[in-house]
Amino acid sequence: MSEKLHPVPAGFEKSARINEQDYHALYERSLTSPAAFWAEQAQRIDWITPFTKVKHTSFDIHNVSIRWFEDGTTNVAMNCIDRHLPHRAHQTAIIWEGDDPALSRHVTYGELHEQVCRFANVLKKHGVKKGDRVTIYLPMIPEAAFAMLACARIGAVHSVVFGGFSPEALAGRIADAASDVVVTADEGLRGGRRVPLKSNVDAALEKVEGVKSVIVVTRTGAEVDMTPGRDYRYEEEAASVHADCPYAEMNAEDPLFILYTSGSTGQPKGVVHTTGGYLVHVALTHEAVFDYRDGEVYWCTADVGWVTGHSYILYGPLANGATTLMFEGVPNYPDVRRFWEVIDKHKVSIFYTAPTAIRALMAAGEEPVKKTSRKSLRLLGSVGEPINPEAWEWYHRVVGEGRCPIVDTWWQTETGGILIAPLPGATALKPGSATRPLFGVFPEIVDAGGNVLTGACEGNLVIADSWPGQARTVFGDHERFAQTYFSAYPGKYFTGDGARRDADGYYWITGRVDDVINVSGHRLGTAEIESALVAHEKVSEAAVVGYPHDLKGQGIYAYVTLMEGAHATEHLRKELVKWVRAEIGPIAAPDVIQFASGLPKTRSGKIMRRILRKIAEGEFGALGDTSTLADPGVVEELVRERPGA
Ligand code: WT7
Repeated sequence: MSEKLHPVPAGFEKSARINEQDYHALYERSLTSPAAFWAEQAQRIDWITPFTKVKHTSFDIHNVSIRWFEDGTTNVAMNCIDRHLPHRAHQTAIIWEGDDPALSRHVTYGELHEQVCRFANVLKKHGVKKGDRVTIYLPMIPEAAFAMLACARIGAVHSVVFGGFSPEALAGRIADAASDVVVTADEGLRGGRRVPLKSNVDAALEKVEGVKSVIVVTRTGAEVDMTPGRDYRYEEEAASVHADCPYAEMNAEDPLFILYTSGSTGQPKGVVHTTGGYLVHVALTHEAVFDYRDGEVYWCTADVGWVTGHSYILYGPLANGATTLMFEGVPNYPDVRRFWEVIDKHKVSIFYTAPTAIRALMAAGEEPVKKTSRKSLRLLGSVGEPINPEAWEWYHRVVGEGRCPIVDTWWQTETGGILIAPLPGATALKPGSATRPLFGVFPEIVDAGGNVLTGACEGNLVIADSWPGQARTVFGDHERFAQTYFSAYPGKYFTGDGARRDADGYYWITGRVDDVINVSGHRLGTAEIESALVAHEKVSEAAVVGYPHDLKGQGIYAYVTLMEGAHATEHLRKELVKWVRAEIGPIAAPDVIQFASGLPKTRSGKIMRRILRKIAEGEFGALGDTSTLADPGVVEELVRERPGA
């Protein structure tokens, strides 16, 4: 790994919101007086009833309980909209850039207020009340933001499902959240291709009961089936309601949203985030990590279907009164200059994207980038997976012309917001390192036995104490929450990531140490893909592992054994790839399927994934001890028949 040091640029050192001294002072205060530190930070949002209690948290496996500002009341939509109206009503809140480069739209804070109120009134008209779950399955259009903020305004809990998920996956999430209202669009549009969202909802609703209303936003105007008494056109509904809607007074610990994410076992979990602490955390980190200044245009390229979109397209930026850009399209449509052209078109100062996009654009060479100006850019960000130093250097040198610091931000759906990242005015950068913890964040590296390692070391990453943006529970299954995050290392939050800490105290995330794989920054459980595969009538058993992939970071490698009488043909291989796409979504499609007559198992029947990982990586020399296997011959066969071996 590169240990090259990029010092803080002189301009940032002088004028950034937080310099090195400030960082140390704030960190020290958060360590010695956490309650006072967070009580101060909580003043960055408006409260209806001020809190008197700051922190009330326990990581004890028998009593996991996380509460922040628990007797305070507030409203997230009020903080993201209403409180800005006196001085920002005419300022752009959201710049929407369409898939088609000819389409864009500015939504001011004043317009955002009206749109969110109307959406809220439509939800109310359909019976949505405080605490009810609303499933949102929309493309990247302003209505996605309006719908989310509308839920927040009336105290409903949104569950956004990424538009790339299949009807099957959508049905599972609607059922788990017990939503009776679904918000969708006729179709989505990405890279010139149409995504049949409404017909996916129709297919999902054949598998799940209880949905009373489907609100359909018009995006492409395509003809879609409308079930009378269940399906409603958003535009007609919105025209029939008031343009104003009071915001609900919410307790700091009332849920704001559920977001489903993959883990090492079972089906995706509904991670629950609440109101007050979450908003304080995302507002603080958006301002500090991106050094956000009033009037700047900020662009995070994520989809609102992921936590990055929730925290850093919507809630963090809007809580700070920022102008946030929302992009409907993809990096290579109409061509690979798209990102850079959008930056020039809207004078973007801060640009936040994923390593997988950088690697793909890097493969297209420097010329397309150099055809654009990018002189508005001041700061670059990275999120979703470790960024390899080559991609980091290219991003820095070519995209940022050497003048823009890169903030490599480590966090997770469960953390709500960024926990480890450089501050551009305080932290010298090392390509590939997320650098240091933010104030109020206490990471530790532990060995397999749970011993806390000190100094330069490598092991598993845990967080020793709570922070306000932390997830509170798994929807409907608090025991699963406790077991998943607090059982491996008693009294600590286990991240599922491995990490190294160097002699300067910098953290280097080495990737997941559990059965979660990270494909193009998207998190997938191997168990989920395996259960999709074995649901196919010809599949007897499946084992899925990740392997290094040049563009995606990790690719999906599936070992499949077939039922008696089924034949391992090219046709079946293609059919299984299609099958997984349909069961979960295109992001889960295996890159490699290897048919096998058996899988390596211990005598007690446990699949030896370590060996399967090595074979997938092509590291045949390093298979380790195979003598404990029930049938060592299986391994020889797998090595011999590995595709491309
Ligand atoms: C997992 C969380 C954070 C929002 C997007 C993904 C990996 C995330 C980094 C980074 C190295 C990273 C981790 C983490 N990850 N950011 N900057 N450097 N790894 O959220 O889907 O919940 O995935 O993404 O492995 O555990 P998520």
